[in-house]
Amino acid sequence: MYSLLRPLLFSLNAETAHNLALRSTSLLSRLTPLAKLLHSVVAPFDPVTVAGLTFPNRVGLAGGMDKNGVAPAAWWAFGFGFVELGTVTPRPQAGNDKPRMWRDVKRRALFNRMGFNNDGADAVAARLAKLKFRPPFPIGVSIGKNKDTPNERAEDDYRIAGEKLAPHADFLTINVSSPNTAGLRALQTAEAMGGIVKAVKSVCGSKPLFVKFAPELTGDELKAVLDACLAAGATGIIGTNTLAATSPTGLPCGESGRPLKSIACERVREIRQHIGRGVPLIGVGGIEDGDSARAMLAAGADLTQIYSALVFQGPFLAARLARDLKRSR
Ligand SMILES: Cc1cc2nc3c(=O)[nH]c(=O)nc-3n(C[C@H](O)[C@H](O)[C@H](O)COP(=O)(O)O)c2cc1C
Repeated sequence: MYSLLRPLLFSLNAETAHNLALRSTSLLSRLTPLAKLLHSVVAPFDPVTVAGLTFPNRVGLAGGMDKNGVAPAAWWAFGFGFVELGTVTPRPQAGNDKPRMWRDVKRRALFNRMGFNNDGADAVAARLAKLKFRPPFPIGVSIGKNKDTPNERAEDDYRIAGEKLAPHADFLTINVSSPNTAGLRALQTAEAMGGIVKAVKSVCGSKPLFVKFAPELTGDELKAVLDACLAAGATGIIGTNTLAATSPTGLPCGESGRPLKSIACERVREIRQHIGRGVPLIGVGGIEDGDSARAMLAAGADLTQIYSALVFQGPFLAARLARDLKRSR
């Protein structure tokens, strides 16, 4: 079905197509009987327990696709094993000027410089609190800092967003790795992360807390920041966010999809080698078929997430990947 829709969506600007697809997905999310029916037909069941949570399968939706939490039941209906909503900042913000999302069809890649456009923590918390049907899979929320909050006060932003969203989330993710908020990646140090993780831990109770890193962070710097996060109480790690790149309009942006595949997989391997077995690790970056999902698991990930390949292959990719992983176990 997606092969029929794709030419229409690809005739539109990438963000317009994204918004159109998300509006339809949000509609499905509100049609509970239809969502339940679809789930019963397509969703593979291959459960796994990670970080104390039970996931119906290992394929999740990556941060950034559903920034405002408008369609959780639809992602479940499509067969995802979990979703990470957000990134959500304490206050609503518009994000960077448009255009800010592009497809590179030949290279199966996306470029984006969205800049944490989102409705803000109060609105997303209220939306999750009001869900008529809460789909029975883990719902995570990624939290970030507002663009106009200086890095010296980043801890406050992460704590405020965490406090508002933790009651409605099964897990939280601290996002310090978007290339589209100036200076954000400078927080990927042992010193900064010790404080930020502690601040969020103080408000999220026993909910699992993940930290998501950039693919460029490697070697001793990566090891030091991993140690600091885990010592401060982080439950697990997500690797990786987008590659820092230059947009078709000549501005800084993130690149995702196929060009990130081997780099993300390598980084996940490096993270697993350092943190050892037993610390939850989610692998994301360039996963587009059973082989790339299996490679991410073989590199040490417990769970996988996808974003860019959904744009090229449609939402049922999640169910196909989960079925493929189940068959190959
Ligand atoms: C348009 C777009 C927006 C994104 N926004 C976020 C975000 O808000 N928070 C986040 O943690 N990651 C965000 N990401 C990064 C993805 O979650 C993921 O880490 C990255 O795209 C690599 O996975 P992929 O190759 O499967 O797309 C975004 C990616 C894209 C393409």
